Amino acid sequence: MFITFEGPEGSGKTTQIRLLADWLIAQGRGVLITREPGGTRIGNGIRALLLDNDHTEMIPRTETLLFNAARAQIVHQVIRPGLEAGQIVLCDRFADSTLAYQGYGYGQDRAELARLIHYATGGLLPDLTLFLDVKPEVGLARKQAGRAQEWNRLDARTIAFHRAVYAGYWEMIGADPERWRVIDSEQPAPTVHQAIVAVLAERLRMKESL
Ligand code: TYD
Repeated sequence: MFITFEGPEGSGKTTQIRLLADWLIAQGRGVLITREPGGTRIGNGIRALLLDNDHTEMIPRTETLLFNAARAQIVHQVIRPGLEAGQIVLCDRFADSTLAYQGYGYGQDRAELARLIHYATGGLLPDLTLFLDVKPEVGLARKQAGRAQEWNRLDARTIAFHRAVYAGYWEMIGADPERWRVIDSEQPAPTVHQAIVAVLAERLRMKESL
């Protein structure tokens, strides 16, 4: 089962993925955690290029290609082998991030992006995508306050950009409600975790009764 986590900056994806992985492992499930961009040696190199604050001249098309180059590598090297081995693969961001950020955020042609994503992933789609819902203002404030990681080039985009990304996510959710589940992530982390566990428990029951 391939599960992806999406959401605005500061939506708590990383924390929630860790909590969910612990829960799944306690249930005796095999779990593999990974994140985009990154997750492979090549992907981590690409991630450094993307986040570097000095790369002010990077244009959206370059960004799109780099994200998808990292994606091709992680799908081949990590995600498909994990799925073939029967693991539950939890991925921190996937193709929907490209549609949300490069598509809705920068206004790049979404049909073109979809073709590029298909090329990068070989058509792999998540079985379930959890949208960790925080309003962009709330998420950015959290991220700035926490400063757990450095403030990077991609965080520096304007609030108008982040609002367009957020609206884009909602459009995608509306278009494919079967695959998406929205989790209210303005709640405390343990509450968010319980909501995610409820979704997962139901999915696993459904899958096993097939
Ligand atoms: P990261 O520091 O991992 O942020 P987060 O913790 O919010 O995931 O940086 C990833 C950034 O890259 C984030 O701003 C979203 C952006 N991104 C895209 O713009 N397009 C993509 O395809 C992906 C995977 C991420």
